[in-house]
Amino acid sequence: MSNPKPLAGKTAVVTGAGRGIGRAIALGLAKAGADVAILARTESELLEVSGRITALDVRCHMGLVDLADPSATETACGALVSDLGNVDILVNNAGADLELGQVADSDPEKWWRTIEINVRGTYLVTRFLLEHINEGGKIINMSSGMGLRAAARQSSYTVSKAGVHIFTECLANELWPRKIDVNNLIPGPVATDIFNRERRPERYTPEEVLEKFKDELPPGFPPQERIKHPDEVADLAVSMATQPVGGSTGQTFSLARRPF
Ligand SMILES: NC(=O)c1ccc[n+]([C@@H]2O[C@H](COP(=O)([O-])OP(=O)(O)OC[C@H]3O[C@@H](n4cnc5c(N)ncnc54)[C@H](OP(=O)(O)O)[C@@H]3O)[C@@H](O)[C@H]2O)c1
Repeated sequence: MSNPKPLAGKTAVVTGAGRGIGRAIALGLAKAGADVAILARTESELLEVSGRITALDVRCHMGLVDLADPSATETACGALVSDLGNVDILVNNAGADLELGQVADSDPEKWWRTIEINVRGTYLVTRFLLEHINEGGKIINMSSGMGLRAAARQSSYTVSKAGVHIFTECLANELWPRKIDVNNLIPGPVATDIFNRERRPERYTPEEVLEKFKDELPPGFPPQERIKHPDEVADLAVSMATQPVGGSTGQTFSLARRPF
């Protein structure tokens, strides 16, 4: 029988864990037995996730932080290490897609803020936790198929994810002597609030998004794609986190249904 708690005794950090994919991954890692630190800006969402994690009899550290802010991120990383100790699994998941227009119509502030959150945030958390990541550790960076293929709109998101993608390879090359594996996860389209193009104040649940797009994919998606529940991404992330030491590094694990 397979071990139901393969991550017992391990400590994980998940950024952007208040909702969507990050929330599902944080809960998946906690179910697998890991203590989990969760970082994001929205307190109510982190409180909800934290309650679910501690109900699983593992420890949870909650850090309210804007990951585009270097000093706040350094403080948040220090606090989580003080609370939970060294880290075995880091999931750089937090991300945003703030500028949907064409370059000619884009807002320079939103364009750059997307890069700051997605690329700089991933770099900052990694930078401040690196000395506290144990041998045999795993870093999982949330990439996107859009980082591998140009889109007609959303250039800031596309550029940011291309940056995350190659950052993974840089880190993998630097960290293999420490036996830390670094890989990209491409989730393909997933039912989260990132599909909330109307920017309505209340969040969409995965079930609402799946219902909304059950008959037709949003424009721009190839017909073979399928919008997935965040739990499907969590399953892959937990599987990546439980790989033996010395497994894949500098690689990309994808749930997308088209080749890149
Ligand atoms: N959904 C998809 O189809 C899809 C496809 C490919 C890749 N991805 C990637 O998967 C990741 C998760 O996306 P999602 O769909 O789950 O999005 P989501 O539902 O919008 O969740 C994003 C998470 O990131 C956090 N976050 C955003 N900006 C932040 C900041 N400045 N500082 C700290 N936390 C921040 C959010 O929390 P706060 O707002 O509270 O800070 C939230 O917890 C992203 O990297 C996204 O690019 C998603």
